[in-house]
Amino acid sequence: MPMMHVRVNPEKCQGHARCIAAVPEIFEEDEQGHSFARDEQVPADLVDAVRLAEQNCPELAIDVTDD
Ligand code: F3S
Repeated sequence: MPMMHVRVNPEKCQGHARCIAAVPEIFEEDEQGHSFARDEQVPADLVDAVRLAEQNCPELAIDVTDD
């Protein structure tokens, strides 16, 4: 089964933190106030939440891939 992977593009992220509020199990704030994915492999029970975070990032900084 394909595994969903998530990354935050540091060039695009402006620190809106919606992703961190929505899925703190995955997204974490770094020292610059930007988000990063603490675990790039998304557990099955968080797939829907991560997809929603991807859609709700105003900077389109969240990249999701199935591989
Ligand atoms: Fe950055 Fe978007 Fe999250 S701007 S902090 S990836 S909501």
